[in-house]
Amino acid sequence: MERIEITGGRTLAGRVRPACAKNSVLPLLAATLLCREPCTLCGVPDLADVQTSLQLLAAVGAAVERRGPDLCTAPRPVRGLVPDPLAAAMRASVFYLAPLLLRAGRVELPLPGGCRLGPRPIDIHLDGLAAMGATVQTLPDRVVVQRRGALHAVDYTLRLPSVGATLTLLMAAACARGFTTLRGAACEPEIADVAAFLNAAGARIAGAGTPVLTIRGVGGLLPGGARHTPLPDRIAAATYAAAVAAAGGQVTVEGCRPAYLGAFLQFLRRAGCRVEAGPDGFTVARDPDRPLQGGVDLRTGAWPGFATDTAPLAAAVLLGAEGASRIHDALFQNRFACAAGFAAMGARVRARGRDLWLAGSDRLQGTLVTAPDLRGGAALVIAGLFAEGSSTVLDPGHIRRGYADLPGELRQLGAACRPAPARAPQAVQYG
Ligand code: EPZ
Repeated sequence: MERIEITGGRTLAGRVRPACAKNSVLPLLAATLLCREPCTLCGVPDLADVQTSLQLLAAVGAAVERRGPDLCTAPRPVRGLVPDPLAAAMRASVFYLAPLLLRAGRVELPLPGGCRLGPRPIDIHLDGLAAMGATVQTLPDRVVVQRRGALHAVDYTLRLPSVGATLTLLMAAACARGFTTLRGAACEPEIADVAAFLNAAGARIAGAGTPVLTIRGVGGLLPGGARHTPLPDRIAAATYAAAVAAAGGQVTVEGCRPAYLGAFLQFLRRAGCRVEAGPDGFTVARDPDRPLQGGVDLRTGAWPGFATDTAPLAAAVLLGAEGASRIHDALFQNRFACAAGFAAMGARVRARGRDLWLAGSDRLQGTLVTAPDLRGGAALVIAGLFAEGSSTVLDPGHIRRGYADLPGELRQLGAACRPAPARAPQAVQYG
């Protein structure tokens, strides 16, 4: 169990550059299996989910190696069987459905793991693959998907704009035979990023970033490879912006277009932060002597709506803001497990179903809390930045799945925040 120790009360100052986006890198690593030529992903951060992905790729027989900041793959026959512990370690194991089906002809995938945000079915992934001619067998703890010959094109409408399912069906359609149309697709920036990679490797995809994708399939694996730098992590960028909004000070986030965080930056402006777009990023400033303005009713939604992953970050900002607020997460039933940690710090919050209610104007007391998931853990660290006294965030490994070194990045901005060595279990004296 890792521990992050924070002493609250310091304002932040400086510049920070988000790493490449976790939610781009993870599908991109799976997509390299679709390529007949070697690929290089540049500047890939050392995240726990990246390490898991490398183990998964090795376990199926793929050739991948880290060369400094880059990950390099080389085409090789693979086995379509994902080991249980690797599938269970992250949601991103679902991205291997289409690539292993296309490369090996059959894929057996234990049900994916990842943040416990509520039910996270994969029915749209499977329904779309079946529509393309795959045979799908759903077992209690895994799915088996097979194909006879090439998948065929389809005109398919997703029942909801699932990011993961859009990526699965995009990868499958790129290698299917014929002209596919995907309607009701997700429009998150990571979709366009993966589409750009696939097109560089020989796919013919149009409409990425819009709800209608058209793909002229190549009828097999993609003829080329690609050298690609994934886009910056907009959720990490939002994390730094939330940190300075909560703690006060001024921070410039470099290398990330403000448009990637549109709704979140609007939220910060409305709360009273100064937000200025620059040529290569944006600056967020907040006078620590002027309380933020809450009294908002936020609702998350698919892109370009308020991103679900930034909901816990917004909550951390609103804890000390004046005025009661509510945040509704339309995508996940259990997005606000971090409310227990906020309450342990003295915040007047209530999580009920998809809603988090906040009284606002809370003065937090540092204490020991536990990260319930990736973004909830980051939100608890942010709350510790402005709590009185010291806080410890116990982390069973969630935060490292999405941030290479969140404590170090915040410390560089002036926070008193450091990882404490995991302690040996305390000897329990009996008797
Ligand atoms: C991706 O998850 C991200 N994860 C999530 O980030 C992010 O919160 C989410 O997209 C939404 O933006 C990765 O990219 C690894 P969805 P994903 O499919 O693809 C339902 C983080 O913190 N659904 O868009 O799983 C699902 O239950 C993580 O970095 C189905 O019903 O999200 C959810 O309610 C957390 N059937 C909604 O759609 C399906 O087949 C959105 O899920 C698929 C999804």
